[in-house]
Amino acid sequence: MSGEEQFSLFNLAEPEASVPKDFNPALIPTSAAIPIPPGTFESMSALAIPCKQCQRCDLAAGRTHVVVGRGNPQARILIVGEGPGQNEDEQGLPFVGKSGQLLGKILSSVRLDSEKDVYICNIVKCRPPGNRAPTTDEVNACIPYLLEQIRLVDPEIILLTGATAVKGLTGDKRGITKIRGQWIEWEGRLCMPIFHPAYLLRNPSREKGKPKWLMWQDIQAVRAKLEELSKL
Ligand code: URA
Repeated sequence: MSGEEQFSLFNLAEPEASVPKDFNPALIPTSAAIPIPPGTFESMSALAIPCKQCQRCDLAAGRTHVVVGRGNPQARILIVGEGPGQNEDEQGLPFVGKSGQLLGKILSSVRLDSEKDVYICNIVKCRPPGNRAPTTDEVNACIPYLLEQIRLVDPEIILLTGATAVKGLTGDKRGITKIRGQWIEWEGRLCMPIFHPAYLLRNPSREKGKPKWLMWQDIQAVRAKLEELSKL
């Protein structure tokens, strides 16, 4: 299918008409030059079908699975990682390796369940070779899926794990040590940058002031914010 034909699937002039009744998800734009307008997908499962066939960037060639997301699509918290690693690529699910195990422990330390209380996804849905950070082109090609995931989950809180997640979503290029633990607003949404669990695995000390201790402060602030928001 040509780019023009793909483009014509969306009537960009009339956003309310952008999801035709006979919309065929297999025909989602495969070229990153063609946008995926907000409101394209009716549900997370509708998004997953074309996402799993995506060819919008070169990462498609090296993947075993597209890693769309996991958890509760109605959760109050959405967690954004960088991109799938080897385990995630093999299983087709985000944060299932050592980083994921640690993320689960961090969440359960404040009584949050990683299946029920959060939805977890990544900036890019396919594994970058050798676990390198995704390139700007790869992020730009993939970001419409994340924007749709955020719209569909409509979370009260977004946690951005590591500098790549912060930069990928908000464009903020500051280092994670500078901004972790701070509430920031992005597109009217409450976000908190936190350390990436992989960074904590490399810095295992629990001493006061060290990354693991700081993460403990941050996740407690997240729990407190959830409770504060529930009282509204
Ligand atoms: N690291 C990430 O950023 N995402 C994953 O899904 C796994 C590891």
